[in-house]
Amino acid sequence: MLRQLSLEVLVGPAERRRALRRDIERGLSAPSKHIPPVWFYDEAGSLLFEEITRLPEYYPTRAERAILDRHAFEVVEAAAADTLVEIGSGTSEKTRLLLDAMATAGSLERIVLFDISRDVLLPAAEELGRTYGVDVHAIVGDFWHDLGAIPPQGRQLWAFLGGTIGNLRPQERRRLLERFRQQMGGAGHLLLGTDLVKESRRLLAAYDDSAGVTAAFNRNVLNVVNRELGGGFEPESFDHRAVWDPRQSWIEMRLRARKAQQVAIEEMALVVELAEGEEILTEISAKFTPDSVREELQGAGFSPAALWRDDAGDFQLTLASVPT
Ligand code: AVJ
Repeated sequence: MLRQLSLEVLVGPAERRRALRRDIERGLSAPSKHIPPVWFYDEAGSLLFEEITRLPEYYPTRAERAILDRHAFEVVEAAAADTLVEIGSGTSEKTRLLLDAMATAGSLERIVLFDISRDVLLPAAEELGRTYGVDVHAIVGDFWHDLGAIPPQGRQLWAFLGGTIGNLRPQERRRLLERFRQQMGGAGHLLLGTDLVKESRRLLAAYDDSAGVTAAFNRNVLNVVNRELGGGFEPESFDHRAVWDPRQSWIEMRLRARKAQQVAIEEMALVVELAEGEEILTEISAKFTPDSVREELQGAGFSPAALWRDDAGDFQLTLASVPT
């Protein structure tokens, strides 16, 4: 059989720019300013994120990899899938552990990669196609609008890793999980990566590292606005802040204006006014407990089937099925 690589682009440069405009318009004219975290990941931002994953303070990536190193075979056996669907696949580095297990089990038939960034997705898709010799379907899309493009083929294991679900608020998490469930069909399984609550000192260090990489990642969103919308932000005139909110159980990343300023955004005829000390919320990163993960999955109609944690109990992978 001839294996193929297909690329489907549902979010191209024009849609992307329109969405950025809309988010900036909304987020920077609101009484409490905010920019959604999806805009961190231009080329520079994706590289900075890769660098974050190697920082001593940033444990989630290492913890999740350790879980997959040890348990990928169990995951694959429990899911009994022939199709791996990765949502927000990025470089798909950890997914290889799942794919290796599926290939060894002889069950791997096809791979679907879904991501918002074409630049990251395409090389990853080519590489996986070469390595595993199966069909790869790459979809450049937004998970709120484009999940319908995922072909309903095979017995599917959907992987949503890295703790990305934590970037959403509880209602959005529920809505997204429900969409996953509706789209993946009866025999499907979801493998969900979630960061767990721990001492605030460690949580804060993970989002405010001593080398300043997370600070650079945070400020980079201003470079994105400058480049794509003709913004006049000076990233150096903002301080990086990470705050743990125990009530909401999430980390907030913010950019705090070091001085009062007016920032023109040329392409939008918008002038953003910031007082000294005023903050822009750029990310929430929710932290879970084993109970809260189970409740949220059940609330979205999934049946949690198995879970795995690293030795330190820092991170959790949960496998859930769709009840028939
Ligand atoms: C990729 C969304 C899982 O929330 O930990 C890392 C992004 N932000 N450091 C996270 C991030 C600051 C990361 N996720």
